[in-house]
Amino acid sequence: MDNQSLIKAALEARENAYAPYSDFCVGAALLTKEGRVYKGCNIENASYTPTNCAERTAFFKAVSEGERTFAAIAIVGGAKGKVTGYAAPCGVCRQVMMEFCDPKTFRILVAVSEEEYVEHTLEEMLPMGFGPVNLHK
Ligand code: THU
Repeated sequence: MDNQSLIKAALEARENAYAPYSDFCVGAALLTKEGRVYKGCNIENASYTPTNCAERTAFFKAVSEGERTFAAIAIVGGAKGKVTGYAAPCGVCRQVMMEFCDPKTFRILVAVSEEEYVEHTLEEMLPMGFGPVNLHK
């Protein structure tokens, strides 16, 4: 799948964002190495801390369906309405990526639109990250 299609899926996922407290709506689309796509949105909570980010929603959906190998994720986020800027993944989501992805090859697309995006590897976004290899797994 090309980058544009993955970003389009993230924009679709953002439509389902449940963000009544922050009004900050995020969508993510996670691409497996086999070419399947799992979408996720942020899901907030009146008690605040149970809130789940879009990226982790996508990962947990995929992992719970048995997926273990991932190629890329596209992320779009911003205040309700049209996306106008980049919404980079939070530290907790980067750490979840670190659990399942090769930091040198996993690609993170932070997008405003299908045409406007930046691309980084997980290693670039989480330098010297702690992961399964540190526990010799
Ligand atoms: N959010 C995400 O979905 N992904 C991120 O990486 C950053 C933050 C959500 C959580 C919360 O619902 C809203 O954005 C404001 O922080």
